[in-house]
Amino acid sequence: MTKPKVIVGLGSCGIAAGAGKVYEVIRSLKEAENMDFSLSRTSCSGMCYREPLVEIIDETGWYLYGGIDEDRAVELLNNHVANGNPVSDYIVCTDLYDTPDSRFFKNQVKIALRNCGRIDPERIGDYEARGGYEALRKIITGKLSPLSIIKEVTASGLRGRGGGGFPTGLKWKFTHDNKSSEKFVICNADEGDPGAFMDRSLLEGDPHSVIEGMIIAALAVEASAGIIYCRAEYPLALRRLDIAINQSRDRGYLGKGILGHGGINFDISVKEGAGAFVCGEETALIASVEGFRGMPGKRPPFPAESGLWKKPTNINNVETFASIPWIISEGASRYAAYGTEKSKGTKVFALAGKIRHGGLVEVPMGITIKDIVFGLGGGIPGDKNFKAVQLGGPSGGCIPAWLADTPVDYESVNATGAIMGSGGMVVMDETTCMVDIARFFLDFTARESCGKCTFCRIGTMRMLEILERITKGSGEKDDIGKLEELAEQIKEGSLCGLGQTAPNPVLTTIRYFRDEYEAHINMKKCPAKVCKQLLRYEVNVTNCTGCTVCARNCPVDAISGERKQVHFIDQDICTRCGICYSKCRFEAITVN
Ligand SMILES: Cc1cc2nc3c(=O)[nH]c(=O)nc-3n(C[C@H](O)[C@H](O)[C@H](O)COP(=O)(O)O)c2cc1C
Ligand code: SF4
Ligand code: SF4
Repeated sequence: MTKPKVIVGLGSCGIAAGAGKVYEVIRSLKEAENMDFSLSRTSCSGMCYREPLVEIIDETGWYLYGGIDEDRAVELLNNHVANGNPVSDYIVCTDLYDTPDSRFFKNQVKIALRNCGRIDPERIGDYEARGGYEALRKIITGKLSPLSIIKEVTASGLRGRGGGGFPTGLKWKFTHDNKSSEKFVICNADEGDPGAFMDRSLLEGDPHSVIEGMIIAALAVEASAGIIYCRAEYPLALRRLDIAINQSRDRGYLGKGILGHGGINFDISVKEGAGAFVCGEETALIASVEGFRGMPGKRPPFPAESGLWKKPTNINNVETFASIPWIISEGASRYAAYGTEKSKGTKVFALAGKIRHGGLVEVPMGITIKDIVFGLGGGIPGDKNFKAVQLGGPSGGCIPAWLADTPVDYESVNATGAIMGSGGMVVMDETTCMVDIARFFLDFTARESCGKCTFCRIGTMRMLEILERITKGSGEKDDIGKLEELAEQIKEGSLCGLGQTAPNPVLTTIRYFRDEYEAHINMKKCPAKVCKQLLRYEVNVTNCTGCTVCARNCPVDAISGERKQVHFIDQDICTRCGICYSKCRFEAITVN
């Protein structure tokens, strides 16, 4: 009889939900009771909405349990592990029958995320057991030339997953063709977009795939040193990267004489970033690695020609690198068979916001927004109406529900005015105010502007002031026109992508939700009932029973009225905190 395996999901999402304590309880009970099962860890499988997750694999099959706390963990050990009785109440998925959550995994194609949630990221042996470092071995033992590696990556159609979608093979060719005794490969793991967590999850869940992708890139462009630029706010990713780099060195995949081949040298170091969004921009990133303030510079020259320390440098995103070993092992044509004509392969999306199944998914390019939001994401919670998705973070835009049949590929998404970006997908329902959303993203970019160009530094502030005015009920008739004019100028006049794309959230919300801007400006109303200063809390005299709950809870004594008498709200005192609305049990408070 084989021993049952118990595996706890210990990615940041799991740990935040309490998985660390669950692991500890299982470990100590195993020890105290001398129980006969193996215990290991994995990282995020993508199903963040069900964390903490515990897998049990026994002779009867595979069981994924969700929402496990310390008490439930004990229950699982006593019932399932000790007595072979699965606890059906907590099963999220199993290979024995379909569950409502089964389709979350079924409709995905996992290439970049192929090992996330399947291996212990701190054990190189787990990675090797699933074919890890075989692509590197294939290149080295098969003596594949740099140009043949580049040819294969080009044939796959892979485009950079960091946002711009530039063809990876072509970028590698540029760096390759620039001759120099010293070249660099940089992995961009800055990930500053609000709502994005793909790169963090990948590094926490499968750091070796990124390292192997970087080694292959180094062989292709003939680089001898690699740097992973990762923000300091990602401590778990940094810790696992450190472990993985050391293990990779010990096994001879990194360092001098890779896989015993004398002339092949490449090593990787990690540079921690301080968490400025602009440091994800490649020239700013290079400045930051060199020890200067992270500010973008002019391009050309592009990093492929003159990058880190003025040497040819190839910069790719985490997901781009993680896809490379799969492409080399499985072949470019298998990768290119997924996706659309111009956007090949798969893309990882981080689903967040008003969505039932928030988490990470990887889908073939070309699948529609609707399929992601409703098929994988399970739709909108609380029977609310789907309103829009925000794609591409602060550089992207809002795509309205009526364009939900838009396929997610670079060209189709760009045609809506949004951008694919790095894959953050924030879902919005009818309770989201689109003017407020535009204000939120612009507030972010205005703060993150490095200040080098006037258009970006001052222009985004002026746009923000207008948006704030509108959401506070002081919008003026020509504000929309002013926003559009400023947007065009900032796009034109800014040096780097941060400024050039900062107006996108504003422009797309004006394009698709102009009526909301007009309601705020002309009628001083917020249709989604979000902008506090435009709301009016009133007592509905028919429903009010005079229970006094609202008056007792109002923090500023704005409500008056005797017990069993209709109450009244003084609008001059009311701060629009909404407490009376949430406390009233008779639906007697209205918001208009
Ligand atoms: C303001 C700004 C922030 C960026 N942040 C990131 C980032 O966090 N990660 C990333 O891979 N690319 C980011 N990029 C894009 C990079 O500059 C670069 O194009 C990318 O890392 C190239 O890798 P790829 O070809 O694999 O996409 C950012 C660009 C701009 C303008
Ligand atoms: S566009 Fe903005 S972030 Fe980029 S260099 Fe200019 S001021 Fe800095
Ligand atoms: S919204 Fe807040 S401040 Fe206004 S009446 Fe209700 S509880 Fe009082």
